[in-house]
Amino acid sequence: MPLDPYVVREDFPILKRVINGKSLVYFNNAATTQKPVQVVEAIKNYYYNYNSDVMRSVNTLSSQATELYMEARRKIAGFISAQEDEIVFTKNTTEGLNMIAEALSGRIREGSVVVTSIMEHHSNLLPWRRVATRNGGRLTIVGMNRDFTIDMDMVEKSLEEGCEILTVVHVSNVLGTVNPAGELSKLAHKHGSLFILDAAQSVPHMPFNVKEIDPDATAFSGHKMLGPTGIGVLYVKRRILEEVEPPLLGGGMVKTVTLGNQVYEDIPFRFEAGTPNIEGVIGLAAAVDYLRKIGMENIAEHELKLVKHLLEGLDRSMVEVYGPGEAAKHAGILSFNVKGVHPHDVAHFLDADGIMIRSGALCAEPLVNALGVSAVARVSFYLYNTLEEVDRFHESVRRMKQFV
Ligand SMILES: Cc1ncc(COP(=O)(O)O)c(C=O)c1O
Repeated sequence: MPLDPYVVREDFPILKRVINGKSLVYFNNAATTQKPVQVVEAIKNYYYNYNSDVMRSVNTLSSQATELYMEARRKIAGFISAQEDEIVFTKNTTEGLNMIAEALSGRIREGSVVVTSIMEHHSNLLPWRRVATRNGGRLTIVGMNRDFTIDMDMVEKSLEEGCEILTVVHVSNVLGTVNPAGELSKLAHKHGSLFILDAAQSVPHMPFNVKEIDPDATAFSGHKMLGPTGIGVLYVKRRILEEVEPPLLGGGMVKTVTLGNQVYEDIPFRFEAGTPNIEGVIGLAAAVDYLRKIGMENIAEHELKLVKHLLEGLDRSMVEVYGPGEAAKHAGILSFNVKGVHPHDVAHFLDADGIMIRSGALCAEPLVNALGVSAVARVSFYLYNTLEEVDRFHESVRRMKQFV
């Protein structure tokens, strides 16, 4: 059954809001997504009926909370076809990428190379630059082709020259470009490199299977996939998790402690020191249930339809588009500039029409600068957006002509 956004919308109370006298159009989903009642209810149910510590106390309430928590962990791992002990709960993608960069820093020595791309969000650029330079290594940045796709020849050349780690974004939060993750993974492994994938914009929007893509580590955020803020996932292959040091020490991550020593818990718990974000995990599991019910193929297909409609209706004489320009190569993200109008003014103009978008450097300043500008405007879709909303956007942009 194809996705019906009008049925989906009934689950999202916020979408009934009127802003600036117009019904809300939420086109800022790459930043964060709205939450369905099912997610809010799951969190409410946890607090009303099960709130307790988990994996510590032996009382009934704690056992029931632990059961809910463990079931949620299984669901979330299963969503990306991972084993339960290969996922570590984090705050968000940013924390996950920082954690894996620090965890792997022991592999980066004098002269080592880490390869990344010009398309990266700051979260997948700054942590690697820090570990590479701190250890006397260096970061190589692969560019992109004229059609805003990653330069695969340069990736291959960099890998041939020898590199420890290849780390790239799966879907660019600026361009919407979907990078060939499986191919990049194969190439990295062929050359003896580790492959790390920033999946913040892919896991929420398309089928994603760690067995097929085969990254050594990947990270994503709950709040970008209908879940609550403050919960994220870092997937790491078991063999790597077994060998790296936990970043934080304290309660919940040790089997035994003496005055002189400690024995760490099994993976993944040794990476989750302190009381976890239980409501976040339970809310994210409810989000995963919701997404599974709709179907990730259906969501990807729906967003593609929206992007296609968006591209078709843009007047290219007044709008510059940054992205592959062909819906088939896009996720549901499109950045653009209205010629002669600052992107923040574009965002304000649309806001007055009830349409929420993002503008600026989108936490990917080197990429936006490589486009020859200092800021862009961005539309990003999700399962509850409609073709009618895209029409409203087109109408608004057309009215901007008076300023051009
Ligand atoms: C590609 C990409 N990576 C990483 C992040 C960081 O996500 P978070 O802010 O949830 O840590 C984002 C968020 O916009 C993103 O789009």
